[in-house]
Amino acid sequence: MRRPIIAGNWKMYKTIADALELANGLKRELYAIEGVDIVIAPGFTLLDEISDVIAGSNINLGAQNAHWEAEGAFTGEASVAQLKELDVKYIIIGHSERRQFFGETNEGVNKRIKAVLSGGLIPIMCVGENLSQREKGNTFSVVQDHLRGGLEGIEKEEAKDIIFAYEPVWAIGTGKTATPAEAQEVHGFIRKKLAEIYDNDTAQSMRIQYGGSVKPDNIEDLIKQEDIDGALVGGASLKVDSFSEIVKKSVG
Ligand code: 13P
Repeated sequence: MRRPIIAGNWKMYKTIADALELANGLKRELYAIEGVDIVIAPGFTLLDEISDVIAGSNINLGAQNAHWEAEGAFTGEASVAQLKELDVKYIIIGHSERRQFFGETNEGVNKRIKAVLSGGLIPIMCVGENLSQREKGNTFSVVQDHLRGGLEGIEKEEAKDIIFAYEPVWAIGTGKTATPAEAQEVHGFIRKKLAEIYDNDTAQSMRIQYGGSVKPDNIEDLIKQEDIDGALVGGASLKVDSFSEIVKKSVG
C-alpha cells in the first residue's frame, strides 16, 4: 500500500507575513492528521521562516527547484546544500512552468534530480503534456520522453525514492481538471514505463501525484484511482481551508 502524499506548491505567491499566517494555520488544522505525507513548498525567500514554524510538526518543507552544482557562479539559483541547511526535504524538479518559461530541458531535469538524490533529499519530478501535444495525440510520447530523459543514468536503488507528479499543463491554473479516468490512464502508463525502466516491484512502490486544478471537491475521486497516490496542489494550497480539506480527504 503506497502512502498518499499531498504537496502544496506555493509558486511565486506570498510575502513573509502572509506565508507565516498560512503555515501556522495549516499546522493548527493538520496536527492530528496521520497516514499521509504533507509537504508545503514556499518560494526561496520564505523557506527559512516557514522552516522554523513547521519544525517538529507533521508538515514537511519542500522547495521549488535546485541547481545541480554544489556551488558556483549561477546567479539566481540555489544549491541542494543551501536548501538542506533550511531543513528542506523535498524538491520539485522540472515543473512545467520551469520547462515553459525558463527553458528547462530533460537534460537539466536529469542533472537536478541526480543532485537532489545525492544530497539525500527527495525529488518531486514533474512530467506532463501541454494542450497542443494532447490534441495531437502525443500525451504518452511526451510523458515517456520526460520520464526517460529525466531518469537517464539513475539506478533503481536511488530512483526508488523519487516522487513523480503528472501535471497536464492544460489543467494547471485553468480550473480544468483531467477527469479521474483521464488522469488514471496516464498514471497507469507512467507506472508501466517505470516498470520497464526499473522493474515491477520498484514501479509498484513509487508514488505518483496528480497535479492540475486539484480542489477539495475533486481530490476524493482522483485519489480513489488505482495509480494516483496523492496530489501536487497549486492555487488551492494557498488557503488554509482548501489545502487542509484536500489533505484530510486524501486519507478518507
Ligand atoms: P493548480 O493547482 O493551481 O492548477 O496548479 C497545479 C500545479 O502546477 C502544482 O504544481
